Amino acid sequence: MSSPRHVPVLLDRVVALLAPALDHEGAVLVDCTLGLGGHSEAVLERIPGCRVIGIDRDPRALALSRERLAPYGDRFTGVQAVYDEIADVVADQGLPEVAGVLFDLGVSSMQLDLPERGFAYAVDAPLDMRMGDTGPTAADVLNTYSAAELARVLREYGEEKLARRIADAVVRERQVEPFSTSARLVELLYDVIPAPARRTGGHPAKRTFQALRMEVNDELRVLQRAMPAAVEAIGVGGRVVVESYHSLEDRLVKRTFAAATRLDVPDDLPFVPEGAEPSYRLVTRGAEQATAEEVEENPRAASVRLRAIERIRANARPNTSSGKGAV
Ligand SMILES: C[S@@+](CC[C@H](N)C(=O)[O-])C[C@H]1O[C@@H](n2cnc3c(N)ncnc32)[C@H](O)[C@@H]1O
Repeated sequence: MSSPRHVPVLLDRVVALLAPALDHEGAVLVDCTLGLGGHSEAVLERIPGCRVIGIDRDPRALALSRERLAPYGDRFTGVQAVYDEIADVVADQGLPEVAGVLFDLGVSSMQLDLPERGFAYAVDAPLDMRMGDTGPTAADVLNTYSAAELARVLREYGEEKLARRIADAVVRERQVEPFSTSARLVELLYDVIPAPARRTGGHPAKRTFQALRMEVNDELRVLQRAMPAAVEAIGVGGRVVVESYHSLEDRLVKRTFAAATRLDVPDDLPFVPEGAEPSYRLVTRGAEQATAEEVEENPRAASVRLRAIERIRANARPNTSSGKGAV
């Protein structure tokens, strides 16, 4: 088998956004989604004085990128963790703060391409979908959730219009035999989703598989905890850069950044009292997207939304919570 590949999305832009924060001796970047180390390698290569701590919950991704980044010696440290543990990871390295944090959310092409991981609907494989090596699998979700819970997952995370109909069919079918591999689920989806919807909505399994993956890995709740922690982890001049691929992820990032950069004084106040200024500024204007050229070269880039924030002063007020609302 050829070695696994993953083409990093918006690589040059991500490095350009991080460079001003990392361009001093001993600066540390936490790459929260190390994957196959594509972004980290570019940072280590192009920004000579800095170090990278790479986090991934997937031990296989970590092993591959440790091998790839070995030429950089002690400039690279790999840590198996879930990224909402960022504060502990930084503290364990003896660091009071870091200069950069990067998130490139979702799964890597390597994970999608290995049939035994169960992320892909094109091959029959065990319904696993765990990025790490603990917790319930996609089969557990299908076999144990109530119809209402399943419908919520499919609707919220998959934006699946036929969520309730699919959930009812799953509950009916699992009474005959529990779900274990993907082919049976795909077959059920072909049966439930009418032909006209199949013609317009892409592969009938796409939305359901995405929703199950997000539920199995608790992706949005982990991100909701991680975003404020990342914003807090950077020192003055430090930057957090995030690449999202799902509208709910991007909304969460946008809210966290908006809360951190908001000027928190009454509208009619003629001056800004000392200490009330925000400690952060937005670096990107809205969310940046990939060019048509990049999407052609790297289809994963099609849905990317890129946002970045910079700390401009030491903490004046604790304001990084993304505020109201569940995810
Ligand atoms: C899109 S890939 C990153 C690719 C990487 N930027 C590269 O250039 O090779 C996302 C990676 O993040 C990891 N990941 C996703 N959610 C995570 C989480 N909550 N904690 C830690 N790692 C996570 C996945 O296991 C996967 O390897």
